[in-house]
Amino acid sequence: MLTEIDILENEIRKQYPEVLEILLRDHTTQKNIFWATNNYEHFGKGYRFDDQILPELITEKNGSIIMPRVQKNKLLQQTRSKDMAEVFTPSWICNAQNNLIDNAWFGRENVFNTELEKSNDFKWSVNNERITFPENKTWKDYVRDTRLEMACGEAPYITSRYDTTTGEFIPIEKRIGILDRKLRIINENVENSGEWLEWAQTAFKNTYAFEFHGDSLFIAREAMLVTFIENYKEKFGKEPLLKSIQYIAYIISWNVWQMDGLKGVIPNSCGIVTTTTTNLFGETETKETPCEGCQKETIHKHNGTYCLIKDWPNKDLESEKKGRKIRFVDLINRNK
Ligand SMILES: C[S@@+](CC[C@H](N)C(=O)[O-])C[C@H]1O[C@@H](n2cnc3c(N)ncnc32)[C@H](O)[C@@H]1O
Repeated sequence: MLTEIDILENEIRKQYPEVLEILLRDHTTQKNIFWATNNYEHFGKGYRFDDQILPELITEKNGSIIMPRVQKNKLLQQTRSKDMAEVFTPSWICNAQNNLIDNAWFGRENVFNTELEKSNDFKWSVNNERITFPENKTWKDYVRDTRLEMACGEAPYITSRYDTTTGEFIPIEKRIGILDRKLRIINENVENSGEWLEWAQTAFKNTYAFEFHGDSLFIAREAMLVTFIENYKEKFGKEPLLKSIQYIAYIISWNVWQMDGLKGVIPNSCGIVTTTTTNLFGETETKETPCEGCQKETIHKHNGTYCLIKDWPNKDLESEKKGRKIRFVDLINRNK
């Protein structure tokens, strides 16, 4: 199952109890993430735009209801591109852009790989040497460095299990995502499985992403979880314990969240607010107030449900601090 690019939800449900339930959770609404697309409504009840994604809905048809974009039919791909700007980035571009961030962080080039250009087939050659760090930084700083993929789709900048544009499977040692790189650094610096798990949790806690569509969001979450399992297996020759898998799924369910990124709220949660008041003469008056944020395109003035994310304490640096919930919108400068 894990070497396939389409991870089958019925297999996850069978193999890892409660993990599907955790992966579908939305911590802002305290419900599950929802479809936020009409593409599934032909399956009937429970598959409409506003319906929550429930485990039993996605384990139908042998778990093939939700599939990566590259496996969707061409017509559906075109419609989604037109309606919601759904065009995914090839792995070589994700690699080149992630390299730019790392060039700045390390103060040198070609840290994880060297980009190659071979007759239009852009690839990269992996640097197999153990990664070294600049004088004032350690491998732990790299794992703790917080990164975010905005409007992540299937999150190709975070984990590159497969090229989202061709469907080609990419083995662990060749991966180029933000999380793939953090896990490589941990693999190179930690041997003990308990310590490895703690640092892997830190890597996940420092990797964030958001997306509008529930299906892509779920695929992103699933790909990150499978990346964890694959790396643990590669390192220790066995599966992690179920409770470790469940905890990573829990971190992912916080850090990879459903949001309309233009508004900072749960998709489609803004609307007209109706208030009824009684005046001095006992007459009732009804007032309808539209969403000011939507009308004026001001991100801080929406009346929808602003998304919550978790600010985790940083391993070894803030052990006293408890994780706290914050509104994503509050990270955005009010003057903008
Ligand atoms: C151009 S794709 C990029 C996806 C991914 N980052 C990549 O590079 O392959 C844009 C993504 O933005 C999502 N999207 C469109 N409008 C959005 C919005 N208002 N808020 C959040 N995501 C949105 C789409 O569903 C789609 O997955």
